[in-house]
Amino acid sequence: MLHKTAITASDVVRVEGLVKRYGDFEAVHGVSFFVSEGECFGLLGPNGAGKSTTIRMICCLAAIDGGTIQVLELPAFPGNQAIKQQIGVVSQDDNLDPDLTVRENIEIQGRFYGQSAGEARERAQELLVWMQLESKAKAQVRDLSGGMRRRLVIARALMGKPRLLVLDEPTTGLDPQARQLVWAKVRELKSQGVTIFLTTHYMDEAERLCDRLVIMDQGGILEEGPPAEVIARVVGEECLELSGISEDQQVQLARHLGDADVTFSEWQGEIWAVFGSQLDRLLQRWQTLDSSLPRFYRRRASLEDVFLRLTGRDLRE
Ligand SMILES: Nc1ncnc2c1ncn2[C@@H]1O[C@H](COP(=O)(O)OP(=O)(O)OP(=O)(O)O)[C@@H](O)[C@H]1O
Ligand SMILES: [Mg+2]
Repeated sequence: MLHKTAITASDVVRVEGLVKRYGDFEAVHGVSFFVSEGECFGLLGPNGAGKSTTIRMICCLAAIDGGTIQVLELPAFPGNQAIKQQIGVVSQDDNLDPDLTVRENIEIQGRFYGQSAGEARERAQELLVWMQLESKAKAQVRDLSGGMRRRLVIARALMGKPRLLVLDEPTTGLDPQARQLVWAKVRELKSQGVTIFLTTHYMDEAERLCDRLVIMDQGGILEEGPPAEVIARVVGEECLELSGISEDQQVQLARHLGDADVTFSEWQGEIWAVFGSQLDRLLQRWQTLDSSLPRFYRRRASLEDVFLRLTGRDLRE
């Protein structure tokens, strides 16, 4: 079974028939999915797909215009404190207070969770060390680099020891070192049983971190499943990229696509890309042809291939 259709009690988030409108524009129309306890779930999609809008409704930050959301068995609606107290949120725009220091920005969050000043100080210190921000504890937030700000927002989201951590593009704009750190921390949290809900535009990140994901576009869901399953289903397991071939050559080679398990082929600029599984058979077939085999590069198919196949190559808003 590729898709789990039945919703179970262990689902941390259940979204059913979710709708969001901004005036006449429907930004999310009839979206349904679930997030199971302890998994890392990815919500992917091009700019404007409706990811942040969906996240804001799950986090009780925006009104729902249709359908239902249950978070930790509770109904989501704007300002539902019972949910907000149990989740950590890293929103797409970090809303840090520029007039406070790094330590103060985290500590102040303790109040929201009803922590005493002492508890908040202790927890903030623990998180500063954990996110490698201790040396910056006294710095003003306005003096931090983009990567440090992002790490600070993640640390702040963990003040209340949440059961569910929602991360809206946590690594956008981070250098490779900072991204690796965030990945390691996400894995660590997951191993402690924290459920992770993640959006990202980095397909390698989603492939590495997510147990299951949904790809959405224009307010609707296009695909759902574990990354490897989605890749195999939508594009096949591997790709042959042929360069420097003429259209005549391509026509000749294309006659043999039926000899292998080819999902589809397309021109990507100067490269002719053939996607599928068991591409050995295709290569062997091509080698028996009279004309010499063009230069090719063979690679595993990726989630990026899936994403472009499903959402196209045109730029979004
Ligand atoms: N407050 C708002 N008022 C009107 N339209 C909005 C508002 N917020 C979002 N939208 C529109 O809703 C759609 C979905 O936006 P959303 O921010 O959810 O996209 P996204 O998938 O998070 O995109 P990105 O990857 O760029 O962050 C877009 O067309 C956006 O312009
Ligand atoms: Mg967004």
